[in-house]
Amino acid sequence: MDKFIIKGPVRLKGEVIISGSKNAALPILFASLLTEEPIEIMNIPKLKDIDITIKLLLYLGVKIKKKDSIEIDASNLYKYRTTMDPFAENLIKSIRASIWMISPLLVRFGKIKIPLPGGCLIGKRPINLHIDGLRKLGAKIYVKKNYIIGYIKKKFKGSCIIMEKNSVGATISIILAAIYASNITIIKNPAKEPEIKDLINFLNTLGAKISGAGTNKIIIEGITKLKGGCYKIISDRIETGTFLIAAAISRGKILCKKTDPKNLAIVLEKLKNTGAKIKTGKNWCSLDMKNKRPKAIDIITGPYPYFPTDMQPQFTLLNLIANGISTITETIFENRFLYVNELVRMGANIFLKKNKVCCKGIKLLSNAEVTATDLRAAVSLVLAGCIASGITIVNNINYIDRGYEKIEDKLSSLGAIIQRIKSE
Ligand code: UD1
Repeated sequence: MDKFIIKGPVRLKGEVIISGSKNAALPILFASLLTEEPIEIMNIPKLKDIDITIKLLLYLGVKIKKKDSIEIDASNLYKYRTTMDPFAENLIKSIRASIWMISPLLVRFGKIKIPLPGGCLIGKRPINLHIDGLRKLGAKIYVKKNYIIGYIKKKFKGSCIIMEKNSVGATISIILAAIYASNITIIKNPAKEPEIKDLINFLNTLGAKISGAGTNKIIIEGITKLKGGCYKIISDRIETGTFLIAAAISRGKILCKKTDPKNLAIVLEKLKNTGAKIKTGKNWCSLDMKNKRPKAIDIITGPYPYFPTDMQPQFTLLNLIANGISTITETIFENRFLYVNELVRMGANIFLKKNKVCCKGIKLLSNAEVTATDLRAAVSLVLAGCIASGITIVNNINYIDRGYEKIEDKLSSLGAIIQRIKSE
């Protein structure tokens, strides 16, 4: 894997253009398997996980033209590729999002066999809610020897599904299966993330009949055909939050452009509590730390609209250099604190107890050689390098390429001194 060499401390200042949302783009790309008419998708971020998804779609027979936007034609899929070869299996195993192939391929071909999907190692990441939901809609589906095997006779049957947890992934699997189901499907207690809303808006643009996005009840009326169409993906709220943190921890000032602050309400509120000056407009937001040290804040992660787990490592970093004592509680993923030991090597005054980290902020982190373990941990270590004294080396930074477009270019334009060393 590649590494970053970062020289700090620097104050990060300037403007940054936020890319399209990774977590909206991924399900939308898989959802494109559901229509036989051409579609065009704009604002797809250039990321490793997106490249892998596109390779998988090509493998299935989708025709793709990449320009500024992406044109997709899924009219002629290779039916026999519902059982994958080792090339496709490795792609599937490398991203969590590949689970969203299941519903569209069951809809199109009535059967599927794929290996269990991979993704960042931040917890157990079970798939029981996906499986239970698809069974409720009439699929015969089970896991055997690390493969998911599923069948459906003719079509899915609408049903009422009460989700025991607000799972983003399972809500998406159920929506994709229910599009062409007979009758109506109701999902009670679904995930309410903006990315789910974006997927629903995309599908409705193609003629789906889905209501209740962002509420406690999503209603999907089965239809017979999705059309083609053109759709622009929302901006990435986690990338936005990450750059605002970059400003806060470096006592700097950053304006994020082409983003939607409405999707960041709780993050902005927490940042205000650190003493930062936050300004927002229709499609921008900015944070000015006015050269002050931030105040420590307590965080408890939760499903949207609560505090996003994908911002947890970045806020932990903020607390490490903030004024005061704080606690961060992780309630979504059980293994999301692997980066804490790396930050201790940089001088952090922090300890981990079960699903909580407690820390007492120090003024300045020191340089060290550290290793990233997952996407959001990786970005936190890189930001830590920007504000630490001396030269920090962050290993395994390819994790960052999964979720942050041109991170070193964007950080350099804000004043970071950062260089990528490619692995041989
Ligand atoms: C998605 C996001 C990820 C984000 C997470 C929570 C993508 C590609 N990834 O992941 O960035 O951190 O939402 O906002 O969009 N669970 C079960 N059984 C299941 C599925 C999930 O128990 O079948 C549990 C998980 O262990 C976790 C919780 O439900 O505790 C939420 O997980 P989920 O929302 O499904 O996360 P992902 O869709 O994997």
